Amino acid sequence: MSQSEISPSFFAKNQFLIFRLFSLSGLVPVGAFLMVHLLTNASVLAGAGTFQSRVDMIHSLGPLLIPVEWIFIFLPMIFHATVGFIIIAGGLPNVGSYAYVGNVRYTLQRATGMIAFAFILWHLIQLHWMGAAVGGGQFDPHRASSSTAAALQPTLVAIFYCIGILSTVFHFANGLWTLGITWGVWTSPAAMRRANWISIAVGILLAGAGIGALVGMRRIDIEQAQAIENRMEDVRRMLDGQEPTPTQDEPTSVRSSQTFDVPAGLVPASKTGT
Ligand code: HEM
Repeated sequence: MSQSEISPSFFAKNQFLIFRLFSLSGLVPVGAFLMVHLLTNASVLAGAGTFQSRVDMIHSLGPLLIPVEWIFIFLPMIFHATVGFIIIAGGLPNVGSYAYVGNVRYTLQRATGMIAFAFILWHLIQLHWMGAAVGGGQFDPHRASSSTAAALQPTLVAIFYCIGILSTVFHFANGLWTLGITWGVWTSPAAMRRANWISIAVGILLAGAGIGALVGMRRIDIEQAQAIENRMEDVRRMLDGQEPTPTQDEPTSVRSSQTFDVPAGLVPASKTGT
């Protein structure tokens, strides 16, 4: 008899804890991040300036942003995806034995998990600075809307985003429902039916935000967005006591002839004397 036949695997031995952590990680922090991310991106519907100010808020974390991303987003996501793949491969026995086993939603949950994995990996390579090493990293935090809009222009890319967003949102919204079963929040058939409506509402809201963000980004007038972003960058530099940066597409002469008001909220109390 081989060793693997007599001793249960690490996953089988610790399956309760692993599955609970897997389930929890799908809600917080990964699911919570997904909601904030899609709603933040949807702010582009209010204009390039609005989206830029949301991005500036996130990037005001400075060097702290890297550990925050790894601790609250990447590591929990890697953990959830790894356990997810083990479950799909049948390596974690006796999980997912919900009443809907055999149902199309059970299969879709697994299929959308795999699509979400491929999509998120590709999305990171395409836009996150870490992807620059392999020809991606197209997102520029100081040119938030224009750089994203340019990356999303090709029709095929927009189609990939549409499939990726809808799959990830379905996975999360349907996952909310199974999560409630995992943790014993809804136990009776009537409670499960009510919970279904919560999942559907969350799914519709997030699908709307995600597709809204995609459409909003693709509708952005890139040149106009760049002009807004340049001015916002100048305001930031001015508040830091620096000169505006001339860019290739906008000579200093054009820039210095422009006047703009500094939004009251952007002026720190120390500079306004209040
Ligand atoms: C934004 C990314 C993701 C979010 C927000 C998310 C969220 C969730 C949630 C909330 C659940 C329900 C947990 C439960 O039933 O207790 C779940 C289940 C699941 N997730 Fe994810 N997930 C994500 C990505 C992934 C990825 C990349 C995979 C990899 C394949 C994956 C695989 C699975 C599987 C297989 C299940 C079903 C487990 C079962 O019912 O037995 N997920 N996910």
